[in-house]
Amino acid sequence: MSSIPQADAVATAQVPFQVTDPERIPTRRYYDEDFYKLECERLWPHVWQMACRLEQIAQVGDWVEYKILDKSVIVVRTEAGVKAFHNACRHRGVPLANGHGNCRKQGFICPFHGWRFNMDGENTFVYGKHLFSERQLDKADLALRPCRVELWGGCAFINFDDNAPTFRESIGPLADRLEAHGMSKQRAEWWYATVLPANWKIAMEAFMEGYHVMRTHPQLQKACPSLYNSMYGDTGGIGQTANPNLSVRQNIQQQFDQLELLSAGMAGMVHAKEVEIARQLLDVELPDDPIQAVPMWFGIVQDQIAKQLAAKGEPVPDLNAVAVSDPVHAVEFLFPHYFLLPFFSSTSSYRIRPLGPQSCLFEIWSLTHAAPGKEPQTPLEPTLLPYDSKDFPPIPQQDYSNIPLQQQGLHAAGFEFMRLSKEIEGMISNYQRIIDGYLAGVAPAKLAKATHLLGGNFDGKILDLSF
Ligand code: FES
Ligand SMILES: [Fe+2]
Repeated sequence: MSSIPQADAVATAQVPFQVTDPERIPTRRYYDEDFYKLECERLWPHVWQMACRLEQIAQVGDWVEYKILDKSVIVVRTEAGVKAFHNACRHRGVPLANGHGNCRKQGFICPFHGWRFNMDGENTFVYGKHLFSERQLDKADLALRPCRVELWGGCAFINFDDNAPTFRESIGPLADRLEAHGMSKQRAEWWYATVLPANWKIAMEAFMEGYHVMRTHPQLQKACPSLYNSMYGDTGGIGQTANPNLSVRQNIQQQFDQLELLSAGMAGMVHAKEVEIARQLLDVELPDDPIQAVPMWFGIVQDQIAKQLAAKGEPVPDLNAVAVSDPVHAVEFLFPHYFLLPFFSSTSSYRIRPLGPQSCLFEIWSLTHAAPGKEPQTPLEPTLLPYDSKDFPPIPQQDYSNIPLQQQGLHAAGFEFMRLSKEIEGMISNYQRIIDGYLAGVAPAKLAKATHLLGGNFDGKILDLSF
C-alpha cells in the first residue's frame, strides 16, 4: 500500500470494488453490472460531456442529438447562441429529434401528435388546444427542458447536473493551456467511429500511457529508438531524445521518420502539410552535438510550421511561444471521456461513450487549422467501421487490436486487479479514483480540484487526490 492518503473511508464505504491500493485496479470495475449501474447513476449525470463539434452546428437552426446511456439531448445553434434541450416532447415524451438537421424553418415537430417547438424550446403549436385543461397548456411548462451547455475548444459540452461546477471549474487550467494551442480554431477533417467489445474505461486506458508503444506500435520505436528508450527503457533520462552515438543527420532523420509515421499512422496528430514543412528542414544548419541539435531542430520545425501556415492564412498560434508558456502533453485527457492529442498545429481527438458494461463507442476526429474559406467540409456523421477494419489509420488499428482481448483477459480466474506502474501509469489510477469519488458522493469542489491534476498527467505519476 502506498503512502498516498485514501478517500474518506466512511464516504467511500458504499463503493464496490473500490480502488483501495492506488497501484491496483480491481478488474470487476470493468465488467460488473452493479458497478456499471453505479457509474450510470452517480458519474455520468454529473460530468461535462463533449456533445458535439461546433462546426456541426455552424448555422442558426443547425442541431445535433447527443446520446448518452438512456438520455438524449438536442444541441442547437439559435440566434442567441448555442442551447441544449432534453430531447422529449412535453406532451407524452416522444423524442423530438434524431441525428442532426436544421430547424430554422419548421422547428421541431413531434412525430406522435404533431406538437411543435421552436429552436428556443418554446412550444409553438398544440393540436386542438380546447381538448386540454388550461393548466396543461401553461407556456413555461410546455417549453422544452433546458440542459446546461458550455462551449470550449470548438465543442459544446453538456452537463445534466444544474449544481455541478462550471466546465472551466471542472477541467481547470488545462482548458486555457489547450486553448493557447488554438484548439477552438481547429476544424474537423474526418471523423471515424467504432463499437469496441470492451468496457469504456478499458478503451480509454489504452491512451493514457506511452509504455505500450514498444510492443503495440513497434514501427514507432523502430524509427526512433532513442526517444522510447529514454522514456521507458532502463537507461537514459527522460527528455533526452537524441542518440549521442549517431550523427546529427542520422538523429534528425530518425526524428523525421517518427513524424512521418505518426502522420500516416494517426493522420490527425501530425498533418501531412506539417511533414512536408519538416522535410524541407532536414538539412538545416544545426550544432554538432546531437543532444543540442535535436531539440533545436524541433524548434525550427515548429517555427516554420507556424510561419508558413500563417502565411497561407491559417490562424496558427506561435507554436514555440505556447510550447514554452503553455506547454501541453502530446496526449491530454478531459475527464471523463474526451481526449486531445495536439502536436504541432493539428490534433487528434477521441470521445468514448459506454454502451453497456462490456461495450463502448469510440470516436476519432482529425482536427487542423484552415485558412478562411478553405475549411474542410464538415463531417456531419462519423464513418462507422468495425473495430478490426483495415480502413482505420494503422496506429488506432494496433490499439484496437488489444482492447477486446484485454476485456476477455479480465475474466481469467485469479486475475483480481491490474498492476500499475506508479511512475508512468498513474493517470489510470488517478482518474479511476476520481470515479470512486463520484460514486461515493465526494463534494463537487473536491472532485473538480482532483480532476485538475489530470492535466499533463499522461505517462504521469500516481497522485494524492486530497479527498
Ligand atoms: S407525444 Fe409529442 S405530440 Fe404527443
Ligand atoms: Fe497506442
